[in-house]
Amino acid sequence: MGATSGLGRGVAERFIADGWTVGVAGRNRQALESLQGLAPDRVFTGAIDIMSESAPKEMLELVTRMGGIDIYLHCSGILRADDESMPIADEVLTAETNAVGFTRMVGTAYKYFETSGRKGRLVAISSIAGIRGLESLPAYSASKAYDSTLLEALRQRSRRDGLGLKIVDIKPGWTRTPLLNSGRKYLLEMDAERVIKSVYKATLYARRSVTIGLRWKILTALERLVPAWIYERLHLNLWK
Ligand SMILES: NC(=O)c1ccc[n+]([C@@H]2O[C@H](COP(=O)([O-])OP(=O)(O)OC[C@H]3O[C@@H](n4cnc5c(N)ncnc54)[C@H](OP(=O)(O)O)[C@@H]3O)[C@@H](O)[C@H]2O)c1
Repeated sequence: MGATSGLGRGVAERFIADGWTVGVAGRNRQALESLQGLAPDRVFTGAIDIMSESAPKEMLELVTRMGGIDIYLHCSGILRADDESMPIADEVLTAETNAVGFTRMVGTAYKYFETSGRKGRLVAISSIAGIRGLESLPAYSASKAYDSTLLEALRQRSRRDGLGLKIVDIKPGWTRTPLLNSGRKYLLEMDAERVIKSVYKATLYARRSVTIGLRWKILTALERLVPAWIYERLHLNLWK
């Protein structure tokens, strides 16, 4: 889900190149068709908007056309940072896509594995932005923390119910994709190809939570240690 651009597209291309049967979804039909062109007999497409209430049904139809799935990977997400004045419409859209849309689709994938009894992998990309609140990206950072918490809750639930499901939270550092404003360089920005490779590996093999980028592993570990009264005085410059 969210296979039409950036990290999702890169990972989908890798799965296709490695011979997997892949279902690709997102709103951009042109991008979906170009992915299908890579291997028409084993790439299935679904034009799905995760904001729509019909999205779960559409996703399950795609899964049925594929004959079932072993891995669900959720990459859909947005970031709005063009206007420093924090427009409420942007904040709400971010929360609706990254938290409500996320719940809708990841929840549907969880139920799919629960009812089908398949011992699969439910994987989603949250972000290092969800470790602490970010003054420049309030709804984005909060929505990513929400995503990580939701995955943790589902992991606990899956264990309780003996589903044998692997639920993986992937947290990349800033990566040059269309998500980021083109005119700005982000803090410790990483090359997309490198991150796509790590997301692909984590999708297949990680057990719980993975932070991508050594410098981000260190930085996020330190971030967690900062007391709230100091953290609120910090002014983190995310971009130049
Ligand atoms: N790039 C970074 O620095 C970075 C760092 C950490 C985490 N992340 C996270 O990684 C994920 C992928 O980001 P990216 O960098 O690859 O961004 P991207 O290139 O902008 O791709 C975003 C994807 O989300 C999909 N999407 C957005 N709204 C959607 C909707 N309503 N319904 C269905 N799909 C929707 C888009 O598909 P359509 O437009 O076709 O619908 C697109 O495929 C996001 O969750 C992002 O927050 C990115």
